Amino acid sequence: MPYLMGLDISTTGAKALIIDEAGAVIAVANTPQPISQPQPLWSEQNPADWWDGICASIRGALAESGLSGHDIDAIGLTGQMHGLVLLDAYGAVLRPAILWNDQRTQAQCDDITARVGARRLIELTGNPAVTGFTAPKLLWVRDHEPEIYARIDKVLLPKDYIRFRLSTDYATDLAGASGTSLLNVAERAWSAEVLDALEIPAEWLPPVHEGTDITATVSGEAADLTGLAKGTPIVGGGGDQAAGAVGMGCVSPDKIGVTVGTSGVVFAPLSRYAYEAEGRLHAFCHAVPGAWHFMGVMLSAAGSLQWYKDTFAPQFAFDALLAEAAGAPAGSDGLFFLPYLTGERTPHPDPLARGAFIGMTSRHSRGHMTRAVLEGVAFGLKDSFTLVAQAGLPETYEVRISGGGAKSPIWQQIIADALNAPLVNINTTEGGAFGAAILAAVAAGVYADAPSACDAMIETGDEVSVGAAADVYAEQYEIYRSLYPTLQETFARL
Ligand code: XUL
Repeated sequence: MPYLMGLDISTTGAKALIIDEAGAVIAVANTPQPISQPQPLWSEQNPADWWDGICASIRGALAESGLSGHDIDAIGLTGQMHGLVLLDAYGAVLRPAILWNDQRTQAQCDDITARVGARRLIELTGNPAVTGFTAPKLLWVRDHEPEIYARIDKVLLPKDYIRFRLSTDYATDLAGASGTSLLNVAERAWSAEVLDALEIPAEWLPPVHEGTDITATVSGEAADLTGLAKGTPIVGGGGDQAAGAVGMGCVSPDKIGVTVGTSGVVFAPLSRYAYEAEGRLHAFCHAVPGAWHFMGVMLSAAGSLQWYKDTFAPQFAFDALLAEAAGAPAGSDGLFFLPYLTGERTPHPDPLARGAFIGMTSRHSRGHMTRAVLEGVAFGLKDSFTLVAQAGLPETYEVRISGGGAKSPIWQQIIADALNAPLVNINTTEGGAFGAAILAAVAAGVYADAPSACDAMIETGDEVSVGAAADVYAEQYEIYRSLYPTLQETFARL
């Protein structure tokens, strides 16, 4: 029986997952990851922590499964996108990784836009320069840490650092590379024009691969550390959103994915390259060969609820908090929450945007406040969903939901009502790691291609229908939409 492993370097944990050829989860192990915010707007992690964490998780998953490393046919990689990992000529890490939710780089985004041209940048890379992407982080190091910039030999994304440690090979996948601002997304190759304009040496970047390509094999040293077998194939994989979409079966334009993780994402597969003229939606390569996708990303989705609980109700279990929220009325009696706790990306690419509770009265209880957080995130998802719909949805489509936050039935119902779209659950909550393992199954020859692997390995589950609160949310959303424009200048002054 073939077994496949998916590895996910997420912002919160380093996870190893083993599935069988039917898609059944055999074992999963996760090692939590520390994150540091050394200055306002900064967000960093230490690549050595990812490596230690993933080694522990691989050993843990193998032990739990009772399998040996030799039983694993192929490994798929996924992880947080956009992060900047810098290596010197000896493969040593030069500084902590600067993460996707770091917001320090507005000046460098402006520099990129000026050098390439705003319209040309969107044409070439599918996106404007936004603070979360990789290239602005690289230019920030150029501007602020020139002694480190001078020693750069390789620029990698987080999961590709793990690929390097597992194999000693440098490689990345096209979906992940799309989030760097350096990829010609239509041509699925690094953009010589952008690299030239930014004076970034092409040799710093690893070769790009489709998600189902075998890019490397496990080295003897990594085999000793992890329990994997030397020579096990490692496939391209994908950034967490594209791999997660594969794990939800969102591999054709009629399957839209909604993911409520730390970030909140609306993911719409495309069979041809397209970009949104104003660059309000990301246009990226999919992890499925020859496919693309649109995507809207809000930065604090389940991250907002986590912050809220940690700050105001650390003594509560999530379930107890959410039960209180269920007792408050839809619309939270006019209390709104803006989820811009770490700035925002879609539809307001603004690192200075701030979170807010608006409309508080002495009648409002903690249940109202919790509900307002859930609703604010749902409205943020609606912002992206509306842009995806404007870009053009097929006549019939299905919205699939996944992610840690999506495990809550009350939050699922609020999202279905706010989007005014029924939601379909799927049989796994393992997200990107599951999708990466599916890509590994294709590379190992277990299935001919990603769509047939998804058909065989993914089952749909409960459907959440649109409820009576949809009308309330349609009205509330109009107010929500007006809040950011009203407060934008204040946020900048703050
Ligand atoms: C996607 C994005 C986040 C990160 C972290 O563009 O920034 O989803 O990948 O999960």
